[in-house]
Amino acid sequence: MTMTVETPLADAKREVPAAFNRVARRYDLLTGLNPGYRRHLRYSAERLALRDDARILDLCCGTGLSTAALRDVYPRATITALDASQGMLDVALTKPWAGEVRWLCGDAMDPAAAGADGPYDGILMAYGIRNVPDADACLANLFELLAPGGTICFHEYSVADSAVSRALWNFVAGAIIIPAGVLTSPGSPIYRYLRRSVVDFDGVRAFEERLRRAGFADVRTKPMDGWQRGIVHSFLAERPR
Ligand SMILES: C[S@@+](CC[C@H](N)C(=O)[O-])C[C@H]1O[C@@H](n2cnc3c(N)ncnc32)[C@H](O)[C@@H]1O
Repeated sequence: MTMTVETPLADAKREVPAAFNRVARRYDLLTGLNPGYRRHLRYSAERLALRDDARILDLCCGTGLSTAALRDVYPRATITALDASQGMLDVALTKPWAGEVRWLCGDAMDPAAAGADGPYDGILMAYGIRNVPDADACLANLFELLAPGGTICFHEYSVADSAVSRALWNFVAGAIIIPAGVLTSPGSPIYRYLRRSVVDFDGVRAFEERLRRAGFADVRTKPMDGWQRGIVHSFLAERPR
């Protein structure tokens, strides 16, 4: 099946990595047009507040933009980066620093099956949890991968709790992101999928509650700046010792 605008969201999620294969070569160009994209990834990397020599997993690493943020903040860390799109990983592998990272192709639903078996002191999942077919099952696996006392950060859109955030997101997605996606990657359904998957995703309170149900402690949410304030968040949590 190929994702279309009509594909039910639950089915579309299974096709997200294949859809990213088709836009991989233009992904860095498009995100480069988004003010704050890279800076905000750095905020989430910093908010993990890990030791210099931490073991870190970057889940749904894509072309390595989130991996680059981790590497900048923690130059002495041991970083593993996983994505299910070989096309996105192929772009990541062209980065001059790619040799410093262990790259894995696999499903974020079960990172250990792809060789990311931890334990990790920190996990960053940037724009990933919204895309997995079963968020609770994914969280259960991530809890097991995190070392006791370790920190996890979900860098993610969440607009359901605020009518203003939802309206601004729909405006930006409809007026800028989808047209820019049509120009840079004609025929790709991924940017329309992005709009509706964000609208459908948990509100801040619901996602925090989901994290607590999965066993995480000290759950807290931090904002971004710029137009993404109230739209993109760092959701942080710990695995209790
Ligand atoms: C929006 S990109 C984000 C990439 C990167 N984290 C960043 O911040 O630039 C989302 C990535 O999630 C990956 N992805 C989506 N579903 C996945 C899954 N079930 N398992 C692994 N990767 C997945 C896609 O292939 C894509 O590369």
